[in-house]
Amino acid sequence: MKFFVDTADVAEIRELNEYGLLDGVTTNPSLILKAGRDIKEVTKEICDIVDGPVSAEVTAVDYAEMMREADVLSKIADNICIKLPLTLDGLKACKALTGDGRQTNVTLCFSANQALLAAKAGATYISPFIGRIDDMGTDGMEVISEIRTIYDNYDFQTNILAASIRTVNHVKLAAMIGADVATVPPATLKALVKHPLTDKGLESFLADWAKTGQKIG
Ligand code: E4P
Repeated sequence: MKFFVDTADVAEIRELNEYGLLDGVTTNPSLILKAGRDIKEVTKEICDIVDGPVSAEVTAVDYAEMMREADVLSKIADNICIKLPLTLDGLKACKALTGDGRQTNVTLCFSANQALLAAKAGATYISPFIGRIDDMGTDGMEVISEIRTIYDNYDFQTNILAASIRTVNHVKLAAMIGADVATVPPATLKALVKHPLTDKGLESFLADWAKTGQKIG
């Protein structure tokens, strides 16, 4: 499973990248607002840090304007992945952009049928929003599972990018189902390493090591 980080915070991205944990980055208009930076400037900085795909989202709702914005965003760096909303115009833009050899991420997916349409439009990534589906009282993971089955039935190459991840359990379940990628907030990504028995075990090894009076090297 690949890990993308879901943030436009350059400091967080730099830190996670140094740990070797990052395969890519996803941003959206709300994350750009949170970063408080100019979209082109911050996206360029992120693209310079991470080798993998960096999703930058169009904000237009009609096809022509989406294509114009996609052109502007694509010029930021070679690793830009154009993020498009799951609407008819977004799917049309997805088809045109993938036909042009661009990477695309179809976002705001809440059902398996929407994911089927994105695959037919040739999307590189489909982003089902697990947390927001859970918020509705339905099961986000069930949607991931349905999409996995449909994509495997027809050998669609679109990557399932589990998004709107809120917990470490979301990451584990998405991995068990076979989502290709999870885009995870920085704090949740770091929380994956945590286990109380690891801390306790390390503490006791270090205490015993100190008693040996030895040094390695
Ligand atoms: C994905 O690409 C989105 O940016 C993100 O995962 C949305 O998550 P949220 O529901 O926590 O805002």
